[in-house]
Amino acid sequence: MSITFKVGEEVQGMRVAGKMASEVLDFLTPHIKPGITTREIDQLAAQYMKKQGSVSATLGYQPSGYPAYPASLCTSVNHVVCHGIPNEKPLRKGDIVNVDVTVIKDGWHGDTSRMFMVGEVSIAAKRLCSLTFEAMWHGIARVKPGVHLGDIGYAIQKFAEGNGFSVVREFCGHGIGRNFHEEPQVLHYGKPGTLDELKPGMIFTVEPMINAGRREVKELGNDGWTIVTKDHSLSAQWEHTVLVTESGYEVLTLSAGSPPPPPFVNA
Ligand code: MF3
Ligand code: CO
Ligand code: CO
Repeated sequence: MSITFKVGEEVQGMRVAGKMASEVLDFLTPHIKPGITTREIDQLAAQYMKKQGSVSATLGYQPSGYPAYPASLCTSVNHVVCHGIPNEKPLRKGDIVNVDVTVIKDGWHGDTSRMFMVGEVSIAAKRLCSLTFEAMWHGIARVKPGVHLGDIGYAIQKFAEGNGFSVVREFCGHGIGRNFHEEPQVLHYGKPGTLDELKPGMIFTVEPMINAGRREVKELGNDGWTIVTKDHSLSAQWEHTVLVTESGYEVLTLSAGSPPPPPFVNA
């Protein structure tokens, strides 16, 4: 497989799918409070996807070497880095949770995630969530034709590490379109001017996983999916699906409830 460039109606299909994924998060937002279980969040999302006419890309998703993913979204709480499977445990005041939604609409994928703070959380947790949001935007803001993938990774890494956090290496952003995970890989660390050059029509995700402590991760071990920080430190992640345009970028996973870009972004 190689990079696919989207044109015309293909881009329009990706816009529709991206907005729908974001609208699932909008719908879930008021429900994410102390006492709700991540399984209940998953069930609410499944009902909403049905209503909006989309299908979850994660339910039954089975890359080689993995068991089929059993839920309509991922819920990664506290030291869970990514791919957390919804379960019966209620969220508690002070938790931070990433909810990652990927929908399919008319064959096109939209992939986005946000952090949610459950009730009042610690200053450290709040800082990790908001600086990870900014880290994602530092990467997105670089996107335009002629820039290299390494420039995106470098921008994210420099910002995250400059604030005393670490960048997870084992998981990355990805091309997306008719397939959930396409080329290229979008690393969240790197060197300026390296790797592929961006060209109009490329669509990929930017989804940095940032740890409060050390960058190393491990599999939780019993479900084949859940990834946690090795040192048990908190981890955060935000994700958008982004189109490379002739002059810059267009974020495809925006909706009424999306948090606005940070002030340093002038798009
Ligand atoms: N949505 C994740 C991503 O951003 C992938 C989740 S795969 C799953 O790429 F199977 F864990 F759901
Ligand atoms: Co993704
Ligand atoms: Co995702």
